[in-house]
Amino acid sequence: MTTLLTGGTGFVGKSLIKRLQGVTVVSRNPESAQQRLQEAGLAENLDDVIKWSNGLNLTDLSRVSPIDSVVNLMGESIAEGRWTATKKAKIRTSRVDGTKSLVNSLIQSGNLPKVFISASAIGLYGDTGETIIEEDAPAGRGFLPEVCQEWESATAPLEELGVRVVHLRIGIVLGANGGALKKLIPLFRTGLGGPLGNGKQWMAWIHVLDLVSMIQWLIEQPVSGAVNATAPNPVRNLEFTKSLGRAVSRPAFLPAPQFAVRLALGEFANSLFISSRIVPGVALSHGFQFQFADIKSALQNAINP
Ligand SMILES: NC(=O)c1ccc[n+]([C@@H]2O[C@H](COP(=O)([O-])OP(=O)(O)OC[C@H]3O[C@@H](n4cnc5c(N)ncnc54)[C@H](OP(=O)(O)O)[C@@H]3O)[C@@H](O)[C@H]2O)c1
Repeated sequence: MTTLLTGGTGFVGKSLIKRLQGVTVVSRNPESAQQRLQEAGLAENLDDVIKWSNGLNLTDLSRVSPIDSVVNLMGESIAEGRWTATKKAKIRTSRVDGTKSLVNSLIQSGNLPKVFISASAIGLYGDTGETIIEEDAPAGRGFLPEVCQEWESATAPLEELGVRVVHLRIGIVLGANGGALKKLIPLFRTGLGGPLGNGKQWMAWIHVLDLVSMIQWLIEQPVSGAVNATAPNPVRNLEFTKSLGRAVSRPAFLPAPQFAVRLALGEFANSLFISSRIVPGVALSHGFQFQFADIKSALQNAINP
């Protein structure tokens, strides 16, 4: 089984490689990627690391043995750095043009996978307040919802050719080695963590181990289209904050007002104040079993694995 993986050097990608055999990673910097993945003890799971550039050329893909599955996780970080016009362009092009380019290369090489699992994000839905959101909900408005819609549309040529495509609308991924917790744990350990704003907004999260289990499961299951990759129990920000405070043994009660967080994090902060009461309708209806369904056990495990 060959899996072609973009974003394999990232937080989710590295956890996924641990679970798979015969992975070919596509990276902007193959030499440093190979080294980092070796240092992470993942050499045995790797077949190859090939160079990514937007407009991946066919010789790269013809080197890969027949591809069974593609997992597409690449994308400029939305949490790091300020959202200047240049940064926003990178957030968009790395996902939309990147996915288009990968799709075109697969089609032109004739090395079509059985399944193409492409990251998307719950940011697609925008601020949905108290409403419980499943996959059939409409997209929201604004920068992130628009990027997510274009990102998902970029796989259309593969769908037209009959390839099974999954759009994984990922929630806040919890794991100690990356994503939101990597930023939040040091803050909470120093006692500076606290609810954001009034703390009433809903947060849809998923433990990184459940996310990679879901990706593995989707490689096999005949599921296609949008799949919310979130735990079945979203929580209000206040509950998330209390649970995180407990998990690091530091109480967290001082509220962080939006203007202060925005000053520290720039426009990305807005996405922490929107309400996302999103549930994994498709995964649950097809029998996917979560290892971490409640926030307390997820945070305890993520922080003290
Ligand atoms: N973590 C979360 O909470 C979360 C939530 C929702 C959605 N997602 C989505 O899930 C995917 C994986 O997330 P992650 O947390 O593992 O991301 P990550 O740690 O930031 O890794 C993303 C990978 O994408 C590649 N990359 C970075 N900037 C790029 C650019 N400008 N152009 C092309 N490739 C670039 C990098 O690989 P190379 O350096 O090897 O090229 C990097 O390892 C992303 O698409 C992300 O948007 C994540």
